[in-house]
Amino acid sequence: MAGRIPQSFINDLLARVDIVDVIDSRLTLKKAGKNYQALCPFHDEKTASFSVSPDKQFYHCFGCGVSGTALTFLMEHDRLEFVEAVENMAALVGLEVPREKGAARARDNSNIYELLSRAAKHFRRSLKTSPEAVGYLKNRGLTGEVARDFGIGYAPESWDGIVRAMPDASEKDLLEAGLLTSNDKGRIYDRFRNRIIFPIRDTRGRVIGFGGRIFTGDSGPKYLNSPETPVFHKGRELYGLFEARKALRHIDRLVLVEGYMDVAALAQAGVANAVATLGTASTEAHFHKLFRYTQEVICCFDGDSAGRKAAWRALENALSTLTEGRQLKFVFLPDGEDPDTLVRARGRQGFVDLLDAALPAIEYLFEQLADGLTMQNLDDQARLASLTMPYIDRVPRGILKDLMLNRLHSMTGFIPEQDPRGSSQAKHTHTAAPAKLSPLSKRLLTYLLKKPELYQTLPVEKRRELTLLDKGDLFLDVVKYIDKNPEADSALLLGRWSGDAVHEELVVLFERRLDLAEGAMQAEFVDGVGRYVTHINSAERRRLLEEMKEAPSTDKLKRFWTLKKADD
Ligand code: UTP
Ligand code: MN
Repeated sequence: MAGRIPQSFINDLLARVDIVDVIDSRLTLKKAGKNYQALCPFHDEKTASFSVSPDKQFYHCFGCGVSGTALTFLMEHDRLEFVEAVENMAALVGLEVPREKGAARARDNSNIYELLSRAAKHFRRSLKTSPEAVGYLKNRGLTGEVARDFGIGYAPESWDGIVRAMPDASEKDLLEAGLLTSNDKGRIYDRFRNRIIFPIRDTRGRVIGFGGRIFTGDSGPKYLNSPETPVFHKGRELYGLFEARKALRHIDRLVLVEGYMDVAALAQAGVANAVATLGTASTEAHFHKLFRYTQEVICCFDGDSAGRKAAWRALENALSTLTEGRQLKFVFLPDGEDPDTLVRARGRQGFVDLLDAALPAIEYLFEQLADGLTMQNLDDQARLASLTMPYIDRVPRGILKDLMLNRLHSMTGFIPEQDPRGSSQAKHTHTAAPAKLSPLSKRLLTYLLKKPELYQTLPVEKRRELTLLDKGDLFLDVVKYIDKNPEADSALLLGRWSGDAVHEELVVLFERRLDLAEGAMQAEFVDGVGRYVTHINSAERRRLLEEMKEAPSTDKLKRFWTLKKADD
């Protein structure tokens, strides 16, 4: 039997998982002052009396009196056993649930949080001692008020500033918190030296890391960030989200920008809803998080090629999070501008005008994928459909997905079919009865019926191509039979189809007189098979294109492109 789950692990879990996230993914939460409200899931009610406190990490219903933590909520709401609820929550943050006996002790990060918070205070205090640092911030247009809201500080020019500021802390803990670093000679010293410090906070306001900007001289990178630590994961966190939530009662939309300074400068200009990734590309986890706090996300990137690349990646990573009601948009800034320079040049309204004119994700998607396609011919239309369908497939069922499918339809004439799970699927079609034989098929059949061993003289790839064709005629049926029965001779072949409607035709073909030398027959057969494959391929392609007009599907498109590739 598995051992007990250590209490320290449960504490750690409750510290890492935000109760607002847990409940918000199950109920519709509305912000009400410092707290969130919803209709209580545990009793019937018309007005919301269920309240969630992000500060206390606690819920309480003023109607029926229930209350508890994220863990009890999961147990009550999802009707889970204690252990199941713990496992569920651990999975949310990617942790293994340890067991008491023999299992590694769960770590308690409260010490790290505490050190980081003290370091942030130290940096803030140090800012007042550096006229140069204050001058730099002023120069960049930041007032003391914004510096205070964001907790901006200064790491003095020193190798041991942190140790001196926190003499009671162990070197090991300070290293683990990312405040100290060591060189290859084993020397340990301050990570942040002579830099403007931007503390990075989680949505609960705890400092989890720092970004430090160089501002005099030029040693090292422009921005230096905390390393990954037990409490700091760059791929999930967003700079400015805590501050935005604090400043705004209701967040209509969040603007995703690239830099710390952009967030601060926008806040300075009165745009309090900007957040930034931490020098990394935006991930799906980022969008999950963003959409927990708002219904609309506007990605604001540079108009240069790096910015366009970042935007496309953002789109790819966001599609799966675009559930009903959520909107994703894009703004591309003029060359050489970033949100910081732009808002300073054009003011708050100038920037808001840009946001209001943002390009919806659907426009951006089609604009990018239709680039270079004229839509004047079936090939372009099929190509657009095959390019867009994988993206549309990722969008959860809802209005946005319908709009995308409609757009695809209006551009190409295709009407994609949807299966109940929301992903497109091929409708199963049955092979039509073999059509009248073409002269080529007749000739090939004559050769094959007279000398079935001709089949074995085809190159392996040709045999494969032939047997993989799924729409053919009587010739293909005979080929497939010989492929499975390599020993078949003329008699066996004719016998196989005796009693069948096509038997008479086969006999006639078998008896046709041929004025050909042995070697010539083989050459003609090989050559004829080549033309046959091409012919069937393009006939199938034409047929697929026609079919896709009625009922497009990713499978059909894939087949189409396989055939086309084989042809090129
Ligand atoms: P930018 O170079 O665009 O910085 O990097 P910025 O925000 O405009 O800063 P200023 O205006 O020059 O002060 C954008 C983001 O990329 C990360 C940081 O998170 C930065 O905010 N970055 C950049 C780094 O992590 N390291 C670097 O050396 C540079
Ligand atoms: Mn900048």
